[in-house]
Amino acid sequence: MSDPAPAPAETPVPDVFDPRQYGQGIPHDHYRHLRDHHPVAWQEEPEVLGWPAGPGFWAVTRHEDVVRVLKDSATYSSYLGATQIRDPDPDDLPFIRRMMLNQDPPHHRRLRVLVSRAFTPKRVDHFAEVVRERARSLLTRAVTEARAGDGICDLVTQVTDDYALLNLTDLLGVPDTDRELLLHWTRRVIGYQDPDEAGSPALGPDGKPLNPRSPSALRDMFDYAHALAAHKRRHPADDVMTSLATDPELTSPELEMFFFLLVVAGNDTVRSAAPGGLHLLAEHPEAYRSLRDGEVGLTTAMDELLRRHPPVLTFRRTAREDTVLAGTRIRTGDKVVVFHASANHDERVFPAPYALDLSRSPNPHVSFGDGPHVCLGAHFARLQLRALYEEICRALPASLEPAGPPRRLVSNFINGLKSLPVQVADV
Ligand code: HEM
Repeated sequence: MSDPAPAPAETPVPDVFDPRQYGQGIPHDHYRHLRDHHPVAWQEEPEVLGWPAGPGFWAVTRHEDVVRVLKDSATYSSYLGATQIRDPDPDDLPFIRRMMLNQDPPHHRRLRVLVSRAFTPKRVDHFAEVVRERARSLLTRAVTEARAGDGICDLVTQVTDDYALLNLTDLLGVPDTDRELLLHWTRRVIGYQDPDEAGSPALGPDGKPLNPRSPSALRDMFDYAHALAAHKRRHPADDVMTSLATDPELTSPELEMFFFLLVVAGNDTVRSAAPGGLHLLAEHPEAYRSLRDGEVGLTTAMDELLRRHPPVLTFRRTAREDTVLAGTRIRTGDKVVVFHASANHDERVFPAPYALDLSRSPNPHVSFGDGPHVCLGAHFARLQLRALYEEICRALPASLEPAGPPRRLVSNFINGLKSLPVQVADV
């Protein structure tokens, strides 16, 4: 993409909240304007897509400030108002706070240690071959079907959606027959801002959308987590649910919450990163060629793809006390929202930030977050992305050519792609 032009300082503070604009693309011009002139900018939160208005929040867009907020959990709490821009229903807050994601040190630490025990690199690596085989078979099928038809395949609906979900269900130890359930749940929780997505939005008795993260909306998922845990105690296997279900230190409500967290954190992120990276490669044939020919290392390249296409767009914190950030006064209780795609394109840190440079190093992107909540699944995510990119180079050695624009998710939280058509050349 071309660099967004700098806007004059007197231009009004642009909106980066409205989820509908993300259906058209990341608002890089707005982000740049905020970084240059209003690095901590007040955002209104009007009613949108049937969701009630909120009190507004501070948008943090510079890399340095994003890292500071994420690291300083004493000032910027994940616990007080949880981690989504939308305020939870006050009745649901105690329940939502049971999730590790929505806790602060020192309580957060205990859960993090517990779940890390189930999530060791050794266990994750154990799935490497299955993951690779899955990448290979999904791509082979998609390419074969395209060659037999109009030469076009949709990498999202035919490859990456299934890839992310099936890899996660393997790691968790969810039986094949229950996999569709997981897809349904994650769509409901993440895709709720997008009118196209399956689960959006369920309406309550007042005709308003139901919060997909409320206890009542999650009951079926929790019941399932218990049934699966009981099954794992009877039939232990080398998977994460067996490890959690047999851990004597983990309470039953904690187990439910871990299951929920892993299902949403582990699926839609990879489901975004995988096609996001492929889309960038399709748009940059020279970069794709250099990757295919081994001129750039895949580890470095993966970080650049994650920098340019961060799967997570925002996370929220709440100020625990009055403070000052980049010269702006923040009051106790204010919502503070970090914008990952903006931090990743901050020209103060990344030279030529809109260029795709697969050999960029150092590359301190914040796509996996930072501080105490830094992504616990990064190793598993990288393992999956590595296998997918290697297998795409093998399956489409000639070129990876766009066959139309991708369709994007309407969400200010997940940088999702709903379709990515590519042309499959004859080999
Ligand atoms: C490319 C893929 C992924 C990206 C970009 C990503 C991104 C993130 C980010 C930004 C956070 C920090 C949240 C915060 O600041 O509050 C996070 C946390 C987390 N992620 Fe990931 N994630 C990915 C894949 C995964 C996978 C595959 C799993 C598990 C199977 C996973 C599990 C988690 C968990 C459990 C947390 C919470 C950690 C805590 O609260 O201490 N993630 N992730």
